Amino acid sequence: MSFVYVTRRRYVVALVVLMSLLYFLQQLVSQDPHRYVSAGFFNDAGDERQVAAVETFPESGPCAGRALANATLLMLARNSDLEGAMSSVSQLEEKFNKHCNYPWVFLNEEPFTDAFKWAMGNVTKASVSFGQVPREHWFQPDWVDEDLARAGRDKMVEQGIIYAGSVPYRNIFNSGFFFKHSLLEPYRYYWRVEPDIQYFCDMPYDPFHFMQENDKIYGFTISFYEWEPTIPTLWSNVKEFMAKYPQYVADDNAMAYLSDDGGETYNLCHFWSNFEIADMDFWRAPAYQAFFDFLEAKGGFYYERWGDAPVHSIAAALFAPKSQLHFFQDVGYRHTPFQHCPQGPEWAANKCGCDKLDTLDYRDQSCIPRYQRLFE
Ligand SMILES: *[C@@H]1O[C@H](CO)[C@@H](O)[C@H](O)[C@H]1NC(C)=O
Ligand SMILES: *[C@@H]1O[C@H](CO)[C@@H](O)[C@H](O)[C@H]1NC(C)=O
Repeated sequence: MSFVYVTRRRYVVALVVLMSLLYFLQQLVSQDPHRYVSAGFFNDAGDERQVAAVETFPESGPCAGRALANATLLMLARNSDLEGAMSSVSQLEEKFNKHCNYPWVFLNEEPFTDAFKWAMGNVTKASVSFGQVPREHWFQPDWVDEDLARAGRDKMVEQGIIYAGSVPYRNIFNSGFFFKHSLLEPYRYYWRVEPDIQYFCDMPYDPFHFMQENDKIYGFTISFYEWEPTIPTLWSNVKEFMAKYPQYVADDNAMAYLSDDGGETYNLCHFWSNFEIADMDFWRAPAYQAFFDFLEAKGGFYYERWGDAPVHSIAAALFAPKSQLHFFQDVGYRHTPFQHCPQGPEWAANKCGCDKLDTLDYRDQSCIPRYQRLFE
C-alpha cells in the first residue's frame, strides 16, 4: 500500500517536472528572436535597461555593412505621453531604425510605469532603457528667489505664454545635466525624438555616421524666431559671457545667423530643438559647461523662461565653427504647428509623405535663409 503510494507520488512529481520542462522548451522555441530580456541593469536611481536578446549586425538598409555609431535615440516623456510616444517611436522605427536597431533611452521626471515600458518594448526590437532624471537636475534650485521667480511667471502668464505659470522647472534639455545621466553617459551622439511628432520620409543613410564622418556637432530641420518675452535678458548675458570667456568663441562661427548687427542684438533665430541630432561631447566640453554654469547662475531659466532651443542654438552657433552645424534638409519632420518637407529630388527618392508646399523654410517666420547665407 505505502509502496504504491510513494511510487504514484514520484510519478506525479516526475510528470510535473517533465511538463514544466516541455513548457519551458516550447516558450524558448516560440520566442521571437528579437524579444527582450530584462538584462538586469538596475542602478541606484531605479533606471532600467532592457537589452535586445539578439543583437544582429544589419545586413541591408541604411546601417548595412558596418558597426553602429556610438549613438542612441533619446526621448523625454511623461507617463501620460504614452500614446504620443508610441506614435513617434513607431514612425522612427519604420522610417529608419528597424534596419539599424539603435538603442532607445527614455527619460522621465518620475519613474516610468510598467505600461509605458511594456508599450515601448513592443514598438521597437532595439534595446530600450528607462531612466528617471534626478530632481536636482531639473527643479528650481533653493538659491532662486521664489518671489521673484513667481513674479516672472505671472508676468508671462499675462502675456499668454503657454505653460509659463506651471511649477518652476528647468527643462532637462537646457540643463547642463541630461548628457550626464547614467543612461546617456556611454554614448556620444543622440537623436532627440519627442512624443507626438511626425516623420515623413525614409532615412536612406545613417545620420550618426554622417555626423561623425563630417565632423558635425549639431543637426536640425526647422529654424525660426524665439518668442522674445521668454528671454528678455538672455542676449545681454551671452555678450557678457563672450567678453569674459573669449577663448570659447570659435573662429568662423555662425554669429551672422544669430545677429544681424555683428553681435550687438539677438535676432531671435534658433534651431527648433525638439528635433536634434547632436554630439554630446560638445555639451560635455568646457565651453558649453562654462556657458551653462554662467547662465544658470544668472537665474534666467527661472526668472524668465530661457528655453533649451535658444540656449543650445546659441552655444552651437558660437562655440563651434559654422561648418560643424548641419541642416538635415532631407528629413521630413513635423512638430505641430510647423513642419519641414524636403524640396529636392529626395522628396520622391525617400518617399516623403508630406506636402512639398507645406514647409516652413522660406516663410516669414523662418531663419533658414539666414542659415543658408552663412555658406554663400
Ligand atoms: C503589442 O504588440 C502586439 C503584437 O504585435 C499587438 O497586438 C499589440 O496591440 C501591441 N500592444 C501595444 C500596446 O501596442
Ligand atoms: C562612446 O562615446 C562616449 C562619449 O564620448 C565615450 O565615453 C565612450 O567610450 C564611447 N564608446 C565607445 C564604444 O567608443
